Amino acid sequence: MKAERGGIYRSRLGKPLEKEAALYLSSLREDAEIFEEDILGTEAHVVMLCEQGIIGRKDAGRILEALESLKTEWREGKVKLELEKFEDVHELVEAYILSRIGVKVGGKTHTGRSRNDQVALDVRLRLRKGLLEIWGALLDLADRLIGRAGEEKETLMVLYTHTQHAQVGFLSHYLLAYVDHLLRDLERIEACYRRVNRCPLGASALAGSTLPLNRPRTAELLGFEELAENSLDAVSSRDFMVEAAASCAILMVHLSRMAEDLVLWSSSEFGYVELPDELASPSSIMPQKKNPCLLELVRAKAGRVCGLLSALLASLKGVPTGYSRDLQEAKPVLWEILSLTLSTLRVMAKVVEGLKFNRNRMGEVASQSYATAVDLAEALVKHAGLSLREAHRLVGETIRLALKKSVRLEEAQTLLEKASMKVLGVKVSLPRRIYERFTSPQRIPAERLTLGSPNPKETRRMLKNRKTMLREARLKLKGKIKGLEKAEGMLKKEILRITSG
Ligand code: ARG
Repeated sequence: MKAERGGIYRSRLGKPLEKEAALYLSSLREDAEIFEEDILGTEAHVVMLCEQGIIGRKDAGRILEALESLKTEWREGKVKLELEKFEDVHELVEAYILSRIGVKVGGKTHTGRSRNDQVALDVRLRLRKGLLEIWGALLDLADRLIGRAGEEKETLMVLYTHTQHAQVGFLSHYLLAYVDHLLRDLERIEACYRRVNRCPLGASALAGSTLPLNRPRTAELLGFEELAENSLDAVSSRDFMVEAAASCAILMVHLSRMAEDLVLWSSSEFGYVELPDELASPSSIMPQKKNPCLLELVRAKAGRVCGLLSALLASLKGVPTGYSRDLQEAKPVLWEILSLTLSTLRVMAKVVEGLKFNRNRMGEVASQSYATAVDLAEALVKHAGLSLREAHRLVGETIRLALKKSVRLEEAQTLLEKASMKVLGVKVSLPRRIYERFTSPQRIPAERLTLGSPNPKETRRMLKNRKTMLREARLKLKGKIKGLEKAEGMLKKEILRITSG
């Protein structure tokens, strides 16, 4: 493609941009992410210009045809991104039109528009797509978690605080906890999507245009639900990017923590889970190895996304209101965040799907643990009239004695009676049946009375409820995608009407 020597905007400047400066300045490489968005936004703008009578139908038709052929060339991989030739995709696209149909007609494309509202638009369009992809991948992962939770409804396991045995629960409880994490991540993404889905086009450089642009119309043609109304705000603000980045960073931190658990649980010491072979890595020297490298990378990539979020915030904090070129630097940061988040969700879904849980090992550890200690203390509150602190002290002393004698808590009833003399000065005992009920790891989940606990009934209720929530979230996502497709169809029809007329 031919460009005016030195670029299409440089009439005020005596010389072309110096080569190294051009390479430093150009955003063309990262603009590959918004190539089609730029064409789409330009098409909607031109359709609106035509409808408003700002440019003639014939001219609009020729511009639209040029845009469509550029889209085809791009999709066929025929467009070269020459950084020293173009400052960005916006210049490339306009230069292409000018080279095809000349400046007399092609030069009307940018009427009433600035690269400032144009780039804000492109980023919003791309981010909208990115958020919907993440939305879908997040639901896929949550579906897998729910599926596995359904299989492991009553798989006994110890749950941890400080990486020490805390309380007995079910594996399903752990899996469902992450479904809830993800559902909140989704709430954040949905709220953010709403603010991303506002059209800045028509803001012009920053203070609007003297031409009768129809802003609601371009917004409609591009499937936006609202306008980024104030023209200065529309070109200047990037908080929608930060919000998306932050939502992704939080989500990545969740995935990282899950990955960390699974790394730990796949160690020989825990032996709770095993990765399927196709998701594990070998060692170049130790033949016995089965390394959870994938999960370690999830942790590291989460760290990277956190860093990128900081980079984004730092690049914005000093930008004076309006547009400054600093804002260009925010784009590749966001693209990387979106891509890391999407790929991590996908990989984690495969991991969750393929994990082999070692139920026996989990049950064995739970059975041998003292993780029913809280439950025993609560039994003493309910059935022996002790205060919680008295019960806590008594069970603590009992466990100390039991450990010394290597007996499990279930077998320590006489030790409890002995300990009570020492700790409380009176003999405290529980009926045998009660003692057994509240110290048996197998029986204890059914004793939990609180909402949201791993009581089997609660587990079933939560499973059902979260399934419904995921189904609703899926429908909402479908609705959003449908809405965008509808707008796309509308724009296509308008383009056809103009080009064929
Ligand atoms: N490449 C620029 C960016 O990504 C486009 C906007 C340029 N605007 C300007 N006034 N120089 O932000």
